[in-house]
Amino acid sequence: MLDLIIRGANLPDGRQNIDIGIQGGKIASVEPALKASAGQEIDAKGRLVTPPFVDAHFHMDATLSLGLPRLNQTGTLLEGIALWGELKPLLTQEAIAERALAYCDWAVAKGLLAIRSHVDICDPRLLAVDALLEVKKKVKPYLDLQLVAFPQDGVLRSPGAMELLKEALKRGVDVVGGIPHFERTMADGAASVRALCEIAADRGLLVDMHCDETDDPMSRHVETLAYETQRLGLQGRVTGSHLTSMHSMDNYYVSKLIPLMAEAKLSAIANPLINITIQGRHDTYPKRRGMTRVPELMAAGLTVAFGHDCVMDPWYGMGSGDMLEVAHMGLHVAQMTGQDAMRNCFAAVTVNPARILQLDGYGIALGKNADLVILQAADPVEAIRVRATRLAVLRRGKVIAETPAQTARLSLPGRPETADFLKKSI
Ligand code: FE2
Repeated sequence: MLDLIIRGANLPDGRQNIDIGIQGGKIASVEPALKASAGQEIDAKGRLVTPPFVDAHFHMDATLSLGLPRLNQTGTLLEGIALWGELKPLLTQEAIAERALAYCDWAVAKGLLAIRSHVDICDPRLLAVDALLEVKKKVKPYLDLQLVAFPQDGVLRSPGAMELLKEALKRGVDVVGGIPHFERTMADGAASVRALCEIAADRGLLVDMHCDETDDPMSRHVETLAYETQRLGLQGRVTGSHLTSMHSMDNYYVSKLIPLMAEAKLSAIANPLINITIQGRHDTYPKRRGMTRVPELMAAGLTVAFGHDCVMDPWYGMGSGDMLEVAHMGLHVAQMTGQDAMRNCFAAVTVNPARILQLDGYGIALGKNADLVILQAADPVEAIRVRATRLAVLRRGKVIAETPAQTARLSLPGRPETADFLKKSI
């Protein structure tokens, strides 16, 4: 006798009409026409059942602070950074934790059950670090929160940042971050990559750097990141976030760079919503898109994820924790409209970021955690197209969030009443 069976599920890999048996919070069977009974059954009715969404790149210390202390009038990165500088002295640990917890509620409702958040450590009080460590503990039963020690003002450029970063790691922050392109010189940027990778190697930690988040084609810190990864034996544990300079780089140089990145088993995270709004802002026309070379990196075998980066903060006034919106934008910006490419965009907000976060027990297979989302869509492409409603979100086999199916009823003269006209399958 199982605890729960979800019947008639479509899976992201294309299998249809599959039954998923769940026992003790784990997946106990995945097969068609499962002959077993359970305390509870859910009929998925041919809808897509997926492992949860995963956001590999977020800033939870800033989220939902929109308008504090004022709005970003230009919408530019530089005004956003200035605004964050104005907000930082006004922050309290309680307020950061409260906003982060509110965002985690939004995330759960959207089936987003694992988030890697950067936390700014350039603050002698380390308020945000303590706040997010507390939030991480609180949300653990329903959301995996992984924290990155992020020196927003430059680990070498900002006085005391190196010691603060080490202190944050000591307090329990999981991953080593960096921002080499924001250091004073290219040489300092490279030195910061080297020092930060050494810290990670010494402590057995993962690395995730904001790397080359600029339109400057000569910003090549990712090359150093790949080199240091190889030198220190960190293959498979290092991620370059943003990598927007790659959009503008010389193609010949990129033909050398991508194989080096693949050799070092780097992962890459693009942040389509933010990259498309922040990059290319100094251009007149034509305006560069600024997102990194996602399909090319995927084709070279790198694990590539799409991150949300910001939701209603000094840099970005939009967003709602919906990783399907992120995938939708990524698909458009990268022109990933081929059939496999669209499915790869779904993978970029599910299985790929799960691999980058090194999440245990992720996926729909025997013995994995029964963490699942039932979507109001038949397949990954439709899910992205309609930013499908999360009908049910399960954590360890228990429903923790439900949203009613979306319908629109049309009453038009001379036409029969219709519902669900947007959905082809439901
Ligand atoms: Fe970021």
